Amino acid sequence: MIFWQIYALVYDHIMLHLLPYRRLLDAAAKSLNPKSGWHILDAGCGTGNFLHHLLRLEPKVKADGIDFAPAMLQRAGLKSKKIVNWEHRVTLREADLNTFIPYGDEVFQGAACINVLYAVKRPDLLLKEIHRVLEIGGKLVLVTPPFEPKIFPVFKEHVQQMKEGKPYYWPFFLSGQILCLAPWLFIFIILNMFIKKQESFHFLKREELISLVEECGFELLSLEKVYGDQDWFLEAVKPAPEEKEEGLFFK
Ligand SMILES: C[S@@+](CC[C@H](N)C(=O)[O-])C[C@H]1O[C@@H](n2cnc3c(N)ncnc32)[C@H](O)[C@@H]1O
Repeated sequence: MIFWQIYALVYDHIMLHLLPYRRLLDAAAKSLNPKSGWHILDAGCGTGNFLHHLLRLEPKVKADGIDFAPAMLQRAGLKSKKIVNWEHRVTLREADLNTFIPYGDEVFQGAACINVLYAVKRPDLLLKEIHRVLEIGGKLVLVTPPFEPKIFPVFKEHVQQMKEGKPYYWPFFLSGQILCLAPWLFIFIILNMFIKKQESFHFLKREELISLVEECGFELLSLEKVYGDQDWFLEAVKPAPEEKEEGLFFK
C-alpha cells in the first residue's frame, strides 16, 4: 500500500503524457461501449484517468471507481472539478481488492480493471468478484502486463506515436517533455523497476491469462498486446449460466 501512495505522487506527471497510455484508456472506454444510464465499475481506478475517458465518451454513464490507496483517490477527486458531470456521475470508494468488492451481485453493466490484476494477492479472487458484480452479458475489459514486462518499449512506442502525430515538430516536443519531466521520469523508472522485481506480483503468459479468465466464469472475446506490447488487452463477457442437464431431463 505504501508503494502505491508514493506512486500516486508521480503517476499522472508521467502517465498523462504517455501517448500509448492515453490510447489504451480510449480503447478500453470504447470497448465497453457505455450507454446512457449504464453503471460501470473501474476496479483499481488509481487517479481516475479511465473514468475521465469513460465520461467523455458517454456523459450520462454512472461509474464507480474503487482503490485502496487514499493518495490515488485524492488525485482522482481533484479531477472532479475539471470534468463536466463528474460529481453527479462518479463515486470513488476506498476498498481493498484483496478481499471482496463492496457491491451486491449483478449491479454493473461493464467493468474495467486496468493494470491492477498483477498487483493483487489473488488474481482469481478479484476476477471472481468482478464476475459476481457484473450482470449477465456484462463486459469486462482487463489490461494487465505480460510475463517479464519492460518499460523502454513503452517509451519507444510513445516516440513512434508522437512522430505520427507531429511529423515535423516531434523532436521539439520530445525534448521539451524530457526537459520538463526529467525528475518525475527518473522516479517513475525507479518505481517501475521495483514493480518488475516484486515476486509477489503476477505477470502472466498468454495461456495463463486465458485459463484464469475462463476459470473465473468469463467467456473470452479477444486478447491482444497494446502499450508497446507491455500490456495484455483482454475483452471478455459474463455468459448466461448453462442450463443443467438434470433440470432439462426432469422437465
Ligand atoms: C498501476 S496503477 C493503475 C491505476 C489505473 N487503473 C490506471 O490505469 O491508471 C495500479 C492501481 O491499483 C491499485 N491497487 C493495487 N492493489 C490494490 C488492492 N489490493 N486493492 C485496491 N486497489 C489496489 C493501486 O492503488 C493503484 O492505484
